[in-house]
Amino acid sequence: MLRYLNGGESHGKLLLAVIEGMPAGVPITEAEVNLDLSRRQKGYGRGGRMRIEQDRVEFVAGVRKGYTLGSPVGLQIENKDWKNWQEIMTAEPGEPATQRVVTKPRPGHADLVGAIKYAHTDIRNVLEKASARETAIRVAIGAVAKALLSQFGITVASHVREIGGVPAETGRMTVADIRAAAEESEVRCADAAAAEKMIARIREAKEKGDTLGGVFEVLVHNVPIGLGSYSQWDRRLNARLAFALMSIQAMKGVEIGMGFESARRFGSEVHDEIFYDEPGQAFYRKTNNAGGLEGGVTNGQPVVLRVAMKPIATLYSPLKSVDIKTKAPFEATVERSDICTVPAASVIGEAVVAFELAAAMTEKFGGDSLIEMKRNYDSYMDYVKNW
Ligand SMILES: Cc1cc2nc3c(=O)[nH]c(=O)nc-3n(C[C@H](O)[C@H](O)[C@H](O)COP(=O)(O)O)c2cc1C
Repeated sequence: MLRYLNGGESHGKLLLAVIEGMPAGVPITEAEVNLDLSRRQKGYGRGGRMRIEQDRVEFVAGVRKGYTLGSPVGLQIENKDWKNWQEIMTAEPGEPATQRVVTKPRPGHADLVGAIKYAHTDIRNVLEKASARETAIRVAIGAVAKALLSQFGITVASHVREIGGVPAETGRMTVADIRAAAEESEVRCADAAAAEKMIARIREAKEKGDTLGGVFEVLVHNVPIGLGSYSQWDRRLNARLAFALMSIQAMKGVEIGMGFESARRFGSEVHDEIFYDEPGQAFYRKTNNAGGLEGGVTNGQPVVLRVAMKPIATLYSPLKSVDIKTKAPFEATVERSDICTVPAASVIGEAVVAFELAAAMTEKFGGDSLIEMKRNYDSYMDYVKNW
């Protein structure tokens, strides 16, 4: 079983994670993880923190000379701002912090529910872990998962479909073109004309002291048929992918394949008919409205997932709230916050999807080592081909 835990406060010393269940012998470097970390930090509409961070991962366990050992993989990312926060965030016993104490909960955040639930009088104890800073370590974990998937030719890509109601049109583009164009775009949008409109919309939001959300899409290719299972509710891969995507801060909905649109169509317009050519070609489809998943199991088609992100909750223009100590109303404002992070969210989406697929691959093909996993995979793919 592949699993991970992560920890670390937004202004703490570092973010950390332990991944358990990675097979031995998977080639992986800090440099390739750092590439994804820098992809997460880009995007028009980010606030000041991105300039402080410049995230770099360090492998502290489970990797030796560029290969996983089969033991737990330990990862960490230092917070570059730690020296400015050390006194406030220190683990050393002492008087409660008096600086940067937060008693004003921001609407749309975990602030109020977290303070009540964990009996905190300083909301900083909530926001430090609830913050999307956590997504940096999740991108690092996803990069390790991608290293395993790449051994089987599985690729995970993403692009932005919509920001603030401005849609992208990518209908006639190939996946390779979408991928390449998204990497070059400031908003990770493959439609250049739409990207310009999105940027204008973000600028407009910024001028108004407002924020924007949007929709991104994650595309996974070369997924073998048969990952996940219908045999038990929590083995359904569609459900696991939706869970993983919904666990990212600020996500409000997930669509698979045709998604919500399939609710508006006749069945004959939705379901992907089955064809068969000749042995070696096996079964195939002419459409992929299911988004690569039927019965909670991958069907060999690309996995297509779309995710809706709400607008950033911290606004420059004030939102009404109530101080938890004085119970006095106030208007919540901010000095530094992101305006729109849908482009970054798409990179985070790739990471969590990569992890779920890597977990499903290890479940299907087992293996203490990559060599063993490949042997099992090759034999299964032979079986599928001759079915
Ligand atoms: C990449 C990324 C960056 C974010 N940056 C901010 C930010 O600068 N300010 C903010 O208020 N929320 C930001 N958020 C969203 C909050 O973390 C999130 O809305 C909040 O933790 C509450 O969680 P929920 O929206 O899932 O209920 C960001 C989310 C992501 C994915």
